[in-house]
Amino acid sequence: MAPVKVFGPAKSTAVARVLVCLEEVGAEYEQVGVHIPAGEQKSPAHLARNPFGQVPAFQDGDLILFDLLKESNLSQSAMVDVWLEVESQTFDTAMSAITFQCLTIPTFMGGIADDKIVEENLGKLKKALEVYEARSCRFRYLAGDFISLADLSHFPMAHYLLATPHASVLDAYPHVKSWINDLMKRPAVKRVRELMEA
Ligand SMILES: *[C@@H]1O[C@H](CO)[C@@H](O)[C@H](O)[C@H]1NC(C)=O
Repeated sequence: MAPVKVFGPAKSTAVARVLVCLEEVGAEYEQVGVHIPAGEQKSPAHLARNPFGQVPAFQDGDLILFDLLKESNLSQSAMVDVWLEVESQTFDTAMSAITFQCLTIPTFMGGIADDKIVEENLGKLKKALEVYEARSCRFRYLAGDFISLADLSHFPMAHYLLATPHASVLDAYPHVKSWINDLMKRPAVKRVRELMEA
C-alpha cells in the first residue's frame, strides 16, 4: 500500500492526533506541509482534500482509524465514541482556551494571558477531570482495558497543558495523571511529540 499522506503541521493538535494513530499502528506515512500563514489550507487543491479548509486532511487513512475506533466490536466502539465525544465537549474546549491564553498569546502574539478566561476554563477543566478520575479508577484506559482513539486523542492537548504554568492541576487527580504519564511513554506518542516540537 502507498504511504498515507497527512497534510498539515504536527504542531496542530488535529494533525498530531492523526500522526499518533499512524505511528501507533506502524503505518507508513508521508507528512506534507501546508503553509497556514499563507492560507494554503484554503487553496483549491487543499479544499478538495478537506472541504472545510482545515488541517489535517489525509488520504487512505480509513483503514487505520477502523482499528483504533474498535469498529469490529460494537460495545467497545460505542465506548470509544462516548469518550471521543466527552473529549471534544469538555477537555478539548477548556484546554483550547487555556493553551491559547497561556501559550499562543505570549509566544506568537506578544500579549499576556487573560487571567479571568484562564481561571474560568481551569474550573471547567477540573469538573471534567473529576469525571475522568472516576473513570480512570475503574479502567486502565478511557473506553475500557484497551487503548483506543479515545485515549490517543487526548495526548496533543495534554502535551500542551504540560507546557503551561498549570500542569500541576493534574496533581489532584492521581489516576488521570498516571493515565497521561502512561500515554506519554508510548513510543508512538514520543515520536509525535518530537515532531510537534521540531
Ligand atoms: C467486545 O468487547 C467487550 C468489552 O471489552 C468484551 O467483553 C467482549 O468479549 C467483546 N466481544 C467480542 C466478540 O470480542
